[in-house]
Amino acid sequence: MTFFANCTKFANSKNLRTMEIKSARFIISNTDVRKCPQDGKPEYAFIGRSNVGKSSLINMLTRQNKLAMTSATPGKTLLINHFLVNDAWYLVDLPGYGYAKRGKAQQQKLKEIISGYILEREQMTMLFVLIDSRHAPQKIDLEFIEWLGENGVPFAIIFTKADKLTRTELQSNLNKYKNTLLEQWEELPPLFVTSSERAIGRSELLEYIHNVNKTIQEGK
Ligand code: GTP
Ligand code: MG
Repeated sequence: MTFFANCTKFANSKNLRTMEIKSARFIISNTDVRKCPQDGKPEYAFIGRSNVGKSSLINMLTRQNKLAMTSATPGKTLLINHFLVNDAWYLVDLPGYGYAKRGKAQQQKLKEIISGYILEREQMTMLFVLIDSRHAPQKIDLEFIEWLGENGVPFAIIFTKADKLTRTELQSNLNKYKNTLLEQWEELPPLFVTSSERAIGRSELLEYIHNVNKTIQEGK
């Protein structure tokens, strides 16, 4: 399997200039991909296990603590949430997967919301899969990533909560993850390391999004 080749070249960009976020505001929440905004602006969506830090990352990127709702209890985000940035592109906060304490019916419903968005949303330019940097590779995430590959979904991986590890532990976990991915993929996707607590990885992620947006503009 190979990744979305167009985007990998941006991941290691040097000489970072942080793209300015001048405005970020909530637009709409819903369960149905057909009711999402229809203005055709590019979207960057965040997915991952419940509690991995998707909503916190959106707040960190936009520097607005209360833009996306966060919680120490898993299962906070249950809808597709659109946040418009600089009136030009969207950050999309999705519900988490894999929260075992949810009932079967609700798990199924969330699965439908998530897969409906990921498979049908043409505006989704990049899906960021968030992985908790503290843990060894988990089956549920690896299967989810495999499913993305089978469906040709462009994605990048963001390791979260880097502040909770020492530098050595972090490096060791990242290496393990890369090796696990390389068992199945010919090349690695764009990888980012973040901490919403300490704003680590903010400029790298914003620069990446900025470059993808620029490529889209140039292709128009
Ligand atoms: P769901 O909406 O339930 O799927 O969760 P989520 O992925 O949106 O997670 P959320 O952002 O709500 O964060 C879950 C918990 O992790 C909260 O208690 C956050 O404060 C904490 N958290 C998120 N990111 C970080 C981080 O970078 N560092 C640390 N230390 N804690 C974090
Ligand atoms: Mg959330």
